[in-house]
Amino acid sequence: AAAELGLYQHYMQKEIFEQPQALADTLQGIEDFSPRIFGENAQAVFETVDSILILACGTSYYAGLTAKYWLEAKAGIPVNVEIASEYRYRSSVPNPNTLVLTITQSGETADTLAALRHAKEQGMAHTLTICNVATSAMVRECELAYITRAGVEIGVASTKAFTTQLAGLFLLTLVFARLRGRLNPQQEADYLRELRHLPAAISAVLALEPQIIAWAESFSRYENALFLGRGLHYPIALEGALKLKEISYIHAEAYPAGELKHGPLALVTEQMPVVTVAPRDDLLDKLKSNMQEVRARGGQLFVFADSDTHIHSEPGIHVIRLPENYGVLSPLLHVVALQLLAYHAALVRGTDVDKPRNLAKSVTVE
Ligand code: G6P
Repeated sequence: AAAELGLYQHYMQKEIFEQPQALADTLQGIEDFSPRIFGENAQAVFETVDSILILACGTSYYAGLTAKYWLEAKAGIPVNVEIASEYRYRSSVPNPNTLVLTITQSGETADTLAALRHAKEQGMAHTLTICNVATSAMVRECELAYITRAGVEIGVASTKAFTTQLAGLFLLTLVFARLRGRLNPQQEADYLRELRHLPAAISAVLALEPQIIAWAESFSRYENALFLGRGLHYPIALEGALKLKEISYIHAEAYPAGELKHGPLALVTEQMPVVTVAPRDDLLDKLKSNMQEVRARGGQLFVFADSDTHIHSEPGIHVIRLPENYGVLSPLLHVVALQLLAYHAALVRGTDVDKPRNLAKSVTVE
């Protein structure tokens, strides 16, 4: 194992740093946004469906939440995202014209498989999985499959599987957008260029590791943390909080920043670090006023800000600058910074990063 780890201390760290390669591999051979990316028969299926139902657990569920923002905004197709363990046991209203989309790194998660089977029993025959294991039960049981090329993921806390799932989901978004006449050739060329530049853009975020290490010492002393994001980056805040709790055992919760005033603001004191995902997007001004609400109560802000946001360090506001805003693909950059924060906070606390207590890499029993 030591030989495989090379310069890295843990598989999780290695896998975080493998993300540029994992994305390059996942996007290799993509020349346009043809439905064939998702299988021979995909076009006929995609033209039939009127909505998408995403089923997943854990980190894969947060990939699904991110995809909802993309698919509805860019492709105009309605999307529901459900936690697999809830969906399988609730009475819902089946729609035979829905595309059932499971997202799973392993393809063996019992709840997600059971949710798929439940959907099929309800008469929903159109199924697609985004999965990292080509030989898995999930791939066998779905009509269509898209295999991410993250490579083997060993760390229990998912990292490179998540970003490659996002890449697959973004491709799906553009395929639907094109089929629905919402993507012109110029836009198609622009998105292809942005996708191809992703590995380099992620490498630029990985280069922030020394700054994140500098935060980790003080950050790891807290027992609680709040994560804020808005819009596309709300699911990223959720994923950042999940990473932190999984491996550092710091209790963390994520909120869409506009919801602060409806509850979590009551928790904010000098003892509460508030990790803020601050891309330069349409919601930036609103996010800045949310940050002021936190500062006014003494909360310590740890902000990951795009370089073009004009957010500056001052007492109580710690800022790490990401590259300039990466548009609709920005979640793939911001999540990498949050992965590194969780990793280094856990390292300071001395936890078993690759095998956190009570958790399993793949939950194949209920
Ligand atoms: C477990 C793992 C998580 C993972 C989840 C879903 O809880 O610890 O890292 O996100 O299962 O796994 P899947 O293989 O279906 O993506």
